[in-house]
Amino acid sequence: MTDKELALKAVEAKSKALADYSNFHVGAALLTEDGKVYSGANIENSSYSLTVCAERTAAFTAIIAGERKFKAIAIASDADEFCPPCGACRQVLLDLCGKDLNVIMIDKNENIKSFKLHELIPFSFGESYLK
Ligand code: THU
Repeated sequence: MTDKELALKAVEAKSKALADYSNFHVGAALLTEDGKVYSGANIENSSYSLTVCAERTAAFTAIIAGERKFKAIAIASDADEFCPPCGACRQVLLDLCGKDLNVIMIDKNENIKSFKLHELIPFSFGESYLK
């Protein structure tokens, strides 16, 4: 699957967002090493801090399905520009998907930009500190 194809799946997933408070819809598509795609969207809560981002709903769905090896995640949003993952999602993706995950963003004009996760969260905390 190309980066663009995965990104378009994130655009599709955006329509599933429950974002009544911010009205900012985000979609994510997480690609496993063997080519499966798990979608996510942000799910907001009236107790605002309980909101879960699109990236985490995708990652948790995949983990619950038994997946452990991931290649890439794509993120789409209502913003005109690229929507980068928030700090909390960077940490969660690092723990669950590893530092070499490709993080692909798509903007309103369907331009693509990508980073390795370790570029987005350098000098990070991780499981090695807990052993
Ligand atoms: N949000 C995401 O789902 N992913 C991000 O990377 C950034 C922010 C959501 C959380 C909240 O529902 C809304 O966007 C506004 O912050």
